[in-house]
Amino acid sequence: MKYFGCIFIFVLLLAIDTKPTEAVCGYESCPETKPNMVNIHLVPHSHDDAGWLKTVDQYYYGHKNRIQHAGVQYIIDTVVSELIKDPKRRFIQVETLFFAKWWQEQSEEAQQSVKILVNEGRLQFTGGAWSMNDEAAVNYQSVIDQFTLGLKWLDETFGACARPRIGWQIDAFGHSREQASIFAQMGYDGQFFARMDHSDKINRLDTLAMEMIWNASESLDQMELFTGMLYNHYKNPPGFCFDLLCQDPPIIDGSRYDNNVEARVHDYIIWAQELERHYRSNHIMVPMGDDFHYEYAQRNFKNMDKLIKYVNQLQFKYHVFYSTPGCYLNALHQTLATWPNKTQDFFPYANDSNSFWTGYYTSRPTQKRFERDGNHMLQTAKQLSVFAGLSSEQQKKDLDKLRQIMGVMQHHYAITGTEKQAVSNDYDRLLYEGIIGGAGNARDALRVLTNLPEGEFESCLQLNISECAFTKDGADNVVVTLFNPLAHTSSQYVRVPVKEESYQVTDEKGRVVASEVVPVAWQVLALGYRQNSTQHDLVFKASVNKIASYYIKKVVKAERDNEIVWHKKLKEVETHAEEDDSETVVQTSQIKLVIDNNSGRLKKVEMNGVSENIEQNFGEYVSKRSSQYIFSEGEPLNVLTADVKFVVYDGDLVKEVHQQFNEWISQVIRISEGVNRVEFEWLIGPVNKEIVTIFDSEISSNGVFYTDSNGREIIKRVKDKREDFTPDLENEPTSGNYYPVTSRIYLQDNAKRMVLLNDRSQGGTSIVDGQLELMLNRPIYTTNIFGNVAHFQLRSVPFARGKVFLMLNAVSKESTFAERLAEKEIHLPFWKFFSSYSNVNRNAAVKSFPDFNFLPRSVHLLTLEPFTEHEILLRLENFVDDLAAEAVRFNIRPIFDGLGGVEIRETTLDGNLPLSEMKRMKFQHDAAGSRPKTAEYFTAQHKPLSAHKSQEASEFSVSLKPMQIRTFIIRK
Ligand SMILES: *[C@@H]1O[C@H](CO)[C@@H](O)[C@H](O)[C@H]1NC(C)=O
Ligand SMILES: *[C@@H]1O[C@H](CO)[C@@H](O)[C@H](O)[C@H]1NC(C)=O
Ligand SMILES: *[C@@H]1O[C@H](CO)[C@@H](O)[C@H](O)[C@H]1NC(C)=O
Ligand SMILES: [Zn+2]
Repeated sequence: MKYFGCIFIFVLLLAIDTKPTEAVCGYESCPETKPNMVNIHLVPHSHDDAGWLKTVDQYYYGHKNRIQHAGVQYIIDTVVSELIKDPKRRFIQVETLFFAKWWQEQSEEAQQSVKILVNEGRLQFTGGAWSMNDEAAVNYQSVIDQFTLGLKWLDETFGACARPRIGWQIDAFGHSREQASIFAQMGYDGQFFARMDHSDKINRLDTLAMEMIWNASESLDQMELFTGMLYNHYKNPPGFCFDLLCQDPPIIDGSRYDNNVEARVHDYIIWAQELERHYRSNHIMVPMGDDFHYEYAQRNFKNMDKLIKYVNQLQFKYHVFYSTPGCYLNALHQTLATWPNKTQDFFPYANDSNSFWTGYYTSRPTQKRFERDGNHMLQTAKQLSVFAGLSSEQQKKDLDKLRQIMGVMQHHYAITGTEKQAVSNDYDRLLYEGIIGGAGNARDALRVLTNLPEGEFESCLQLNISECAFTKDGADNVVVTLFNPLAHTSSQYVRVPVKEESYQVTDEKGRVVASEVVPVAWQVLALGYRQNSTQHDLVFKASVNKIASYYIKKVVKAERDNEIVWHKKLKEVETHAEEDDSETVVQTSQIKLVIDNNSGRLKKVEMNGVSENIEQNFGEYVSKRSSQYIFSEGEPLNVLTADVKFVVYDGDLVKEVHQQFNEWISQVIRISEGVNRVEFEWLIGPVNKEIVTIFDSEISSNGVFYTDSNGREIIKRVKDKREDFTPDLENEPTSGNYYPVTSRIYLQDNAKRMVLLNDRSQGGTSIVDGQLELMLNRPIYTTNIFGNVAHFQLRSVPFARGKVFLMLNAVSKESTFAERLAEKEIHLPFWKFFSSYSNVNRNAAVKSFPDFNFLPRSVHLLTLEPFTEHEILLRLENFVDDLAAEAVRFNIRPIFDGLGGVEIRETTLDGNLPLSEMKRMKFQHDAAGSRPKTAEYFTAQHKPLSAHKSQEASEFSVSLKPMQIRTFIIRK
């Protein structure tokens, strides 16, 4: 027995001994580099779009290859089997949605071998979000969500070795500062991309500034991110595409007549020399791949193996090997080299002087709005799931589905509106299903959280055209349950589509709430696809902490007395009417609007103690070169000149000016008692045109205006200027001054400030001092990127409807705070749920949940969601713009207790890495004085919160600097 035991141990030791050093991942698994040579890092990769010319599933399965040859499942299949053949081979996997789908279909053995590849750093996840998101039209909340989703899947499937360290935004059409900041907050070491303005790129190639340190925040410290621009898009060197989709010659070796080794190696070295000239260090990164490459990976790897072998055989200056962006960046970091600075962003992107990619900031405006609805439902469903403790498999599945489709919607061909029509239809279908699932979760939660255990809690998705199936036959005995996703109690006006009847609205305590009935604009009623049974909106003001119900009852007219105010139709002005008064004044206690009776347009606004002549109008660009991507102005803006017909409805709560600009543009200007902003609800259609709205003031803005970056920090824009280069604006002076407006655009002088907030991403600019312009609508073009007059043939010509909000204010800190609050209310208003009244069970046991009102006013409840089975993810953000403001301090023990917490820990922004373990590369600036002797790193700037419920309340104190976000996992 002993004898056998010894042999057994001996064998075991041998087994351990044969693979001792391989089980390392991360930077330790990086290939060896040679200090005295130029190291060429070959990075095999495949760029797999989550929809573009084909749908997500068509791309995955390789369906409809006649449209585009692409099948992601085969790419992953063949890449994995090629990686297994040789430990030196590397591949980066970027889009987690495809990988997760593929993974599910694998046998346990196959999964086991993939785990080895991941644990040895041979298959490296890079980017790693659900999709490769756009950076112009996305809101930071949704970007953070989709990274959380992708990184969580990777972490749960593979553990720490799968955690991406590098952002890989190679195809996004321009780059935002907020995206860079998000990467830094997630602990990423750097990012790479492939698109920037052509003049910027030429400059940077000449000045060795293709790689830089991006200071990605004006307010937060340590938000520096190494950022690298690739040389030849994200493609292999010309002539060296070994993919199935390419025709380049393979490497022919051996004693063959066709042997081309020498010639190919020669060409390769020429290429390497060219690259070497434009980058600073003795490392060069060369992507080997392109869109949907590696479907037959053996071809790619077999030829790359030979290329590596023969170039290295020369023993000339170049050392070539398989690598990854992470290993490349690690090598740069070790060199202790210094790099130039970058502080603004990379918008707009122009690939040549005629092609500014600014059209997609607005393309498919209805899809961009639908995506916002998706986010609204997602945040609502997540919070409600936490409060109600939903835990059934179906509920989790439904919530995951909504999270996933929202991840897909952030993709650079989805939210951008640059996908083909059939793909757009598929996104709509998926998002609709996701929203229905989310609404189901919300209903299940509300049955636990309110006194309506059998309530229907129906959601109405067409309230923007005053349509709701639940109230179509009348709103008698209807309960509207409102959910407020914000941290603080909010007061907002609620509109419910009703028939022209009398109603009484009461709150939960039975108190009558003032309400009135307002006619819906006739242009909305005329929409063909609308159910026409209700033609009015019942309006009342609701005040909601988290959840509140309001009860609507029909009353006979005699009963109503003073309680119900019908809107009186005040004025119907025929333009050029020869009346003595030439203007109409509409006002609330806060706001006064003056309408010019002759033109029918707004001409003056007074609010917040400021008065300004502001004329609002619409205009049209006529272009022959625009596309879904590119806005090309063609002729100058054609401003509407025809006089506007208008009608004023003057209620006690709400005042509305209904305007008709022409056959396809109408608008409701709305002010409401107690609300400090003017609402412009526009309706455009049926028309296929590039339409903008303009707000003209006399504010002397001197060519300066400001736009938000993905809904968070503000970036100053100077007309005709860029940070690091002189833009080529000769052909496109307007389009070249367009910037993404995700939530806010403004201009100001010393005294006054004019701000526009929007309800979805749009393009915007200020071409004339004092004037703001937002593009509201675009036609649907064919997918030809570089302009094509042919428009898609749609079954019906499209309509779009939406809102722009105006705030006029004195220049002060308080005003920016009010704008931020307004922005949150616009993006995450109350979600309305409808039930029948008869079902109220006033004795129902109602589950309690925490109150967030104690949080300082500037603290936003950015995320509250179920994380793992026993964990909740919580993010809090301080949204003040005033960067000189003090940090806010508070104690989150009440939230922790209210959620039944046992333990809490702090993580990086994505929720998947303990903040205490965050360690990311710090790079050295040019001209920054003495250089360090060893590579440096950033770690957490504050002591990460970590506490158990048995500890003192003081352990739960939190401080948030302006613009800071902190992320916590609470274990129940
Ligand atoms: C980043 O830029 C802001 C101003 O834009 C500045 O206040 C801050 O000091 C910079 N941070 C670093 C690390 O350079
Ligand atoms: C809906 O009814 C209104 C008023 O009765 C009418 O003006 C409008 O044309 C109708 N809409 C449709 C699509 O028929
Ligand atoms: C870049 O920024 C750093 C940190 O703010 C500063 O020390 C350095 O001088 C800047 N370098 C250049 C070239 O502007
Ligand atoms: Zn792409």
